[in-house]
Amino acid sequence: MKAIKLLVLAGAMMLSATVSAEAKEVRAATDEAAQEAVPAATNEATKPDTRWFREAGFGMFVHFGPYAVLGSGEWVMETRPIARAQYMKLQDFFNPQAFDAAEWVGIAKRAGMKYIIITSRHHDGFSMWDTAQSEWNIMNTPYGKDILRRLADECREQGIKLGFYYSLIDWTRDDYQWRTGRTGHRAGRTAPNDWEGYIGFMKRQITELLTDYGDVAVMWFDGHWDQNVSGTDDDPTSGVDWHYDEIYGLVHSLQPDCLVANNHHTSPFPGEDYQVFERDLPGENKAGYSAGQQVSQLPLETCETINGSWGYHITDGSHKSVAQLVRRLVGAAGMGGNLLLNVGPMPDGRIDEGSAARLAEMGEWLARWGHTVYGTSAGFIKPQDWGAVTRKGDKYYIHIFDGAGVANGALALKIPGFSGAKWLNVAGELRYAADRKTGYVTLVLDGAQLDPIDSIIEVTVK
Ligand code: GLC
Repeated sequence: MKAIKLLVLAGAMMLSATVSAEAKEVRAATDEAAQEAVPAATNEATKPDTRWFREAGFGMFVHFGPYAVLGSGEWVMETRPIARAQYMKLQDFFNPQAFDAAEWVGIAKRAGMKYIIITSRHHDGFSMWDTAQSEWNIMNTPYGKDILRRLADECREQGIKLGFYYSLIDWTRDDYQWRTGRTGHRAGRTAPNDWEGYIGFMKRQITELLTDYGDVAVMWFDGHWDQNVSGTDDDPTSGVDWHYDEIYGLVHSLQPDCLVANNHHTSPFPGEDYQVFERDLPGENKAGYSAGQQVSQLPLETCETINGSWGYHITDGSHKSVAQLVRRLVGAAGMGGNLLLNVGPMPDGRIDEGSAARLAEMGEWLARWGHTVYGTSAGFIKPQDWGAVTRKGDKYYIHIFDGAGVANGALALKIPGFSGAKWLNVAGELRYAADRKTGYVTLVLDGAQLDPIDSIIEVTVK
């Protein structure tokens, strides 16, 4: 360990600190973060307005459909497995009488969420709206009302954006080419596939969604990986022609400002307006879906569950803590991306109390500290074990999640243009020292009463 002379900037306090060998790791990470992101295809043709999305920071994902009745997640038809003829009996039982669009939208808004993306149709092929393209839809349930219409009306009323998740896979239709797919083999289908017919069906449904429900902020596709040639998640090549040029073109021609996203687990394809990461921060591959994708220069979004399930799961009580969820949100912001946080409503249409309570607390946190998240871009270093950094204008926000993860109680960071720093939500004065020669600033956490969720340092830069 070698003592370094430190130049004290604020508080006229003389301070000397030691920068340990461990701090070098932080330096290495800083340098790595400085590497340029890989440029990706952008949607040159229509260039929809992505400003709202970049500002939004936080959105609500909703996985809701007849699978909720079985309480085992949205993949239950495939995993259990349940043949199509039996599964489709759910149409007689699905009756979400307690669904209240105003309540869902209220929960999202109070959580500080700026957009909602709901499953219009998941892999089971059930349509949550009054579609003319299939009888397997919400109008033919005892509930008999168009959930998407109610939600669209309410979102307009309460001023929040609405987008639609749309599955590319279909486990119940004959025309979907399941024979070459990775899933859907146990649905009991025997009839010949009709790929072109299936593409036509999707286009007609997408046309309905983008014609009859007002402004649609996002079309969020999922399931490309079902047809990957290698049968692995990170393979961009597909054994089928998804006609993305036509599908994306259709979306943009019907609603030029609708953003196209596709959870294909690989780097963006032409015509996509933002890049999606499933259960991982951009650049991570902890969940195993992101090996094949590099962080592009498109706007970014990471989607995550509150417990471990997308669709309602009656025995899944693994809800993350508010601290974990806030850190996920801040971590995404630290990569310049949004967090799309999921709720899987119960079969009666209500959002479970465990999720609703956490979302309310996130909203309270954001009401105080949201300015360090909304409208920010990535900081000077990518998210670390100890926290993440966001940037807005001449401020950096250094979010410290885990003071214990910081060696020797002091963080040494190379902060470009550093001119001063203070605690935002920790009592007392921040002790720090900047070394003009090396550009490293040492922020002393030792002795500070750190916040249990996120201790925020506001740095001003020149
Ligand atoms: C996966 C799953 C799906 C879920 C989605 C959300 O692709 O297949 O059930 O809707 O992730 O990101």
